[in-house]
Amino acid sequence: MKEKKSNFSNSIGFVLAAAGSAVGVGNIWRFPYLCAKDGGGLFLIIYLILVLTFGFVLLTTDIAIGRKTKQNALKAFGTLHPKWRFLGYLTFLVPALIMTYYSVIGGWITKYFCEYIISDGSALSKDSYFTSFITSKVSPIVFMLIFLALTAWIVYRGVEKGIEKFSRFIMPGLIILILVIAIFSLTLSKKDTDGTVRTGLQGLWVYLYPDFSGLTVKRFLEILLDAMSQLFFSLSVSMGIMVTYGSYVKDDVNLNKSINQIEIFDTGVAFLAGMMIIPAVFVFLGTDGMASGPSLIFISLPKVFEAMGPVGKITAIAFFLMMGFAALTSCVSVMETLVANCMEIFHKTRKQMCSMIGIYSLITAVLICLGYNALYFELPLPNGATAQLLDVMDYISNSFLMPFISFLTSILVGWVIGPKYIISEVERNGEHFGRARLYSFMIRFVVPVVMLILFLVSTGIGNL
Ligand code: PFF
Repeated sequence: MKEKKSNFSNSIGFVLAAAGSAVGVGNIWRFPYLCAKDGGGLFLIIYLILVLTFGFVLLTTDIAIGRKTKQNALKAFGTLHPKWRFLGYLTFLVPALIMTYYSVIGGWITKYFCEYIISDGSALSKDSYFTSFITSKVSPIVFMLIFLALTAWIVYRGVEKGIEKFSRFIMPGLIILILVIAIFSLTLSKKDTDGTVRTGLQGLWVYLYPDFSGLTVKRFLEILLDAMSQLFFSLSVSMGIMVTYGSYVKDDVNLNKSINQIEIFDTGVAFLAGMMIIPAVFVFLGTDGMASGPSLIFISLPKVFEAMGPVGKITAIAFFLMMGFAALTSCVSVMETLVANCMEIFHKTRKQMCSMIGIYSLITAVLICLGYNALYFELPLPNGATAQLLDVMDYISNSFLMPFISFLTSILVGWVIGPKYIISEVERNGEHFGRARLYSFMIRFVVPVVMLILFLVSTGIGNL
């Protein structure tokens, strides 16, 4: 049975829902630690340039393809060119892989939020707490279930009444929370036992100062690679999600303006997240506190909250609530893409497909949880690191598939159907697409070359 295609009610609804997908754990956790690791302001400058060039090109391409074809990624590419149908299937793989672990991370956030509500949180600041939690058999599965059920419920309610309504409510709340914590973070200070005082403003300097020391070509390329993979993940591009959301956009919406707003939203939240986390970690743990990976938010930050004293608990609750919101709207976009695609493949209702995708998500997420105990193994990755199940999924989807899909999409749009196709969709209502020439140049020449290099590096063929 075919359901009537639903839409976002207006431009703001679309922008908030797309920003809801874009703003997630990537902005709040990954961006700050990459920034700290990759030379503070230097990483910021490189990232901003990439947002304005690659980010804008990839986001415009995805959204315009969605609105023009009014189809999900799975069918949209076949509509652009029958021989390119395979690209739709390839794109579908990314949310299918991300769905396996995103709700697991959402479960970890839910657990920390609940723990801070019911206890004073001192146990969470112990080094071993996080590891013993994720390696336990039952607890991660229970919290993943709570998060997954919430996601499925929002997706089940549909585009306008579910996704749009929740994003309208959650996104402004998230901005307010992040602003309050960021300002609070700047006012912090602590005196060490040796009498030195570290302040939030010094921490801000650590965050923003462009550190060029020891910069070699190899190091620069590594930073570029970090910034590029962060960009994909953060903007949710090249994974069919923005094509799906684009297909819900009404024809009278100004795409160019909406795309700028989504980029500003996503980058703005990442910037504020850095302002919130880096000064606080600097004050209480020094520059060594910026650990990478999950340990930043699940191990370092609880130590910061503990060191804050009485206000630590309430700050922690606000922080994990905000993180939970951000993760929820992102996870919703992943599940919506899977549901919407499957509704088209199987000609079933939203309700039926929500149950089917819900079961798929549940089984795979349980496997990911078990990857930390009963199913524990480590695989070598082409980049030399070893990884267990969750990281393997993350590597295949973000480091491997996304550059490959972007490469193929740029060949299709740049050389097969031509950039005019996208440009005319952006200018559909007579709007002026100011960066049309930049768009054409990037999609034809720059994106394919850079994406191919990224892809080769991720396969290990082109090791840096
Ligand atoms: N863009 C989200 C973030 O920055 O956390 C992550 C994300 C959402 C990635 C949806 C992939 C996805 F399909």
